[in-house]
Amino acid sequence: MNDNLLSGKTALITGCGRGIGKAIALTLARAGADIVVNDIDQNTVQDLAEEIMELGRKALVCCGSVGLEADIGAMFARIKDEFGHLDILVNNAGITRDNLIAKMTDLEWDQVMDVNLKGVFYSVRAAAEMMKEQAYGKIVNLTSVTALTGNIGQVNYAAAKAGVIGITKTLARELARYKVTVNAVAPGFIDTPMSAAIPDDIKQTIIKGIPLGRAGSPQDIANLVKFLVSNESAYITGQVISCNGGIYI
Ligand SMILES: NC(=O)c1ccc[n+]([C@@H]2O[C@H](COP(=O)([O-])OP(=O)(O)OC[C@H]3O[C@@H](n4cnc5c(N)ncnc54)[C@H](O)[C@@H]3O)[C@@H](O)[C@H]2O)c1
Repeated sequence: MNDNLLSGKTALITGCGRGIGKAIALTLARAGADIVVNDIDQNTVQDLAEEIMELGRKALVCCGSVGLEADIGAMFARIKDEFGHLDILVNNAGITRDNLIAKMTDLEWDQVMDVNLKGVFYSVRAAAEMMKEQAYGKIVNLTSVTALTGNIGQVNYAAAKAGVIGITKTLARELARYKVTVNAVAPGFIDTPMSAAIPDDIKQTIIKGIPLGRAGSPQDIANLVKFLVSNESAYITGQVISCNGGIYI
């Protein structure tokens, strides 16, 4: 359903070729936003761009890694050329490289930090400049229930996602005077290609621990993000909002 809540807005969603990011991109497009489609995986972005254009919205495809400053710089240069403004940034790109602490390698630590934490830093630094000039902006960062509870085998991921909460709270304070809001969304267990890697017996155990009795869907997260990037949430900033079926209360 098109509701025009985001009509005239331009939104960048990082890592939106599949999973939660894809649901966010399509949901914001249905609400009237033009979408900057970013992913490191070139195979998924064209199909998504076509789906967005079928909804009557513009789609600008910018492949590249959020963990590389040069890729972020090139992407923001194209956004300025094509749209001249960026109203919404959703930092969604994320990876896991799980291992118990004794076995975790420097590479596994660095890869997760580069994408999940430094990637957020690079894109908010670039977006903040544009949003300050516009005196308008909505930033939503994807953190995780893991940042709030910890999780065995995810010391790198939990540290990066906890860092994202620190970025969110600090930027909310720094950017409030420019009418830019910054919030974080903390999904619980969501059914995506990322969580598909978890063995079935462990998945069933996780689902048994969810009071609402099911895994979340990418759409559950996209619905919350749509609210946070719209003017209906104008007085909310610096918050970490869980969407987790009650797995952590
Ligand atoms: N699935 C869950 O249960 C869950 C729970 C909590 C938080 N999250 C977070 O939500 C976000 C989306 O997760 P998902 O489950 O949809 O994951 P996913 O693996 O299904 O999708 C992630 C997307 O990010 C892209 N990506 C990876 N590295 C990138 C990079 N360097 N630059 C640009 N794009 C890159 C991938 O190609 C992929 O399309 C992530 O930040 C994740 O940590 C997911």
